[in-house]
Amino acid sequence: MPHEVRGVIATAKGDKVKVGSVLVPDPGPGEALVRVQACGVCHTDLHYREGAINDEFPFLLGHEASGIVEQVGDGVRNVEPGDFVIIAWRAPCGTCRSCVRGRPWYCFASKNAQQPMTLADGTALSPALGIGAFAELTLVDAIQAVKVNRDAGPEIAGLVGCGIMAGLGAAINTGGVSRGDSVAVFGCGGVGDAAIAGSHLAGAHTIIAVDIDDRKLEWAKDFGATHVINSSETDPIKAIRDLTAGNGVNVAIEAVGNPVTYEQAFYSRDHAGTVVLVGVPSPDMKIELPLLEIFGRGGALKSSWYGDCLPSRDFSLYIDLYLQGRLPLDKFVSETIALDEVEEAFAKMERGEVLRSVVTF
Ligand SMILES: NC(=O)c1ccc[n+]([C@@H]2O[C@H](COP(=O)([O-])OP(=O)(O)OC[C@H]3O[C@@H](n4cnc5c(N)ncnc54)[C@H](O)[C@@H]3O)[C@@H](O)[C@H]2O)c1
Ligand SMILES: [Zn+2]
Ligand SMILES: [Zn+2]
Repeated sequence: MPHEVRGVIATAKGDKVKVGSVLVPDPGPGEALVRVQACGVCHTDLHYREGAINDEFPFLLGHEASGIVEQVGDGVRNVEPGDFVIIAWRAPCGTCRSCVRGRPWYCFASKNAQQPMTLADGTALSPALGIGAFAELTLVDAIQAVKVNRDAGPEIAGLVGCGIMAGLGAAINTGGVSRGDSVAVFGCGGVGDAAIAGSHLAGAHTIIAVDIDDRKLEWAKDFGATHVINSSETDPIKAIRDLTAGNGVNVAIEAVGNPVTYEQAFYSRDHAGTVVLVGVPSPDMKIELPLLEIFGRGGALKSSWYGDCLPSRDFSLYIDLYLQGRLPLDKFVSETIALDEVEEAFAKMERGEVLRSVVTF
């Protein structure tokens, strides 16, 4: 018998999201039914409702979630009912060409639930990032459910499921930030601030936060920014060079998803430096760069999907570091909201009033 629950649905490009009835099937083989306890509002949810990811409306939004496993299907061994889990949007398949090369963080066939969640009339929903957790219950592949210490609490744990992991991993895994490095982070929302926190954790010496909103720059200092630049008032490329003896930074991280900030990141890196693109661009965005600058500086231009993380390795690591007082994950939670306040949370995000609004159930 499917479970009828409330969920946040994006029906058509640009339309406001609505809370509606969602039918969630019982878990089949390899699947887990999770009672969602918290789900953060990420900018990627807004990209979905703006049609910037794809056209597969209607979407069931929400993908930064934690909860309790309610039921599992046949053959599930990694979790059992009652476990506290973070839901991951990467569940390596183990058999694709990337997994078999020993690079499961680039898995090309990440696992999701086989059965669709639907509207009451049977229309299949596209769950955001294969999750769909702005809903009281969600159905995922069991490998997407990653058990962590429940002492972290649902709000903080949920955020590790996307934005925090994307930012931490962009710095630590993709950017390879290490002790003594200089780093610049463009865009200090939840993802950018997590990149700042990751750089701090990895031992970076200079961490420069760049944003166009002074409030965001103040918050960035809480995560370890040593310098801040408001790029609507100051040329960030020149300011970054001034802060790094004229050289630029070892790692420049773009966490907006915008050609202008990408270009700023590109010209802010030192020779042999690395640029990491974490922000999600929309399909129409283009950039033109002199090939000689790409060649002449050496180093690497990379993009980072989900911080190149392995959820089964990384989620409990960062939850434990938080519980040990070594990572201020609590500072990402700006407010908790109800399920019917997601549209208002998008507006607050766009006005720069929050780092993360988190729906609690
Ligand atoms: N690659 C991944 O795996 C991954 C995962 C999660 C989110 N994302 C993407 O990361 C980006 C950031 O997400 P978020 O949730 O932190 O969003 P957010 O809206 O909370 O933060 C964006 C920040 O960028 C700042 N900003 C906007 N324009 C700017 C400009 N021109 N210069 C400098 N700063 C500017 C805003 O003031 C804000 O602080 C989004 O594009 C999101 O889709 C990527
Ligand atoms: Zn996200
Ligand atoms: Zn794979």
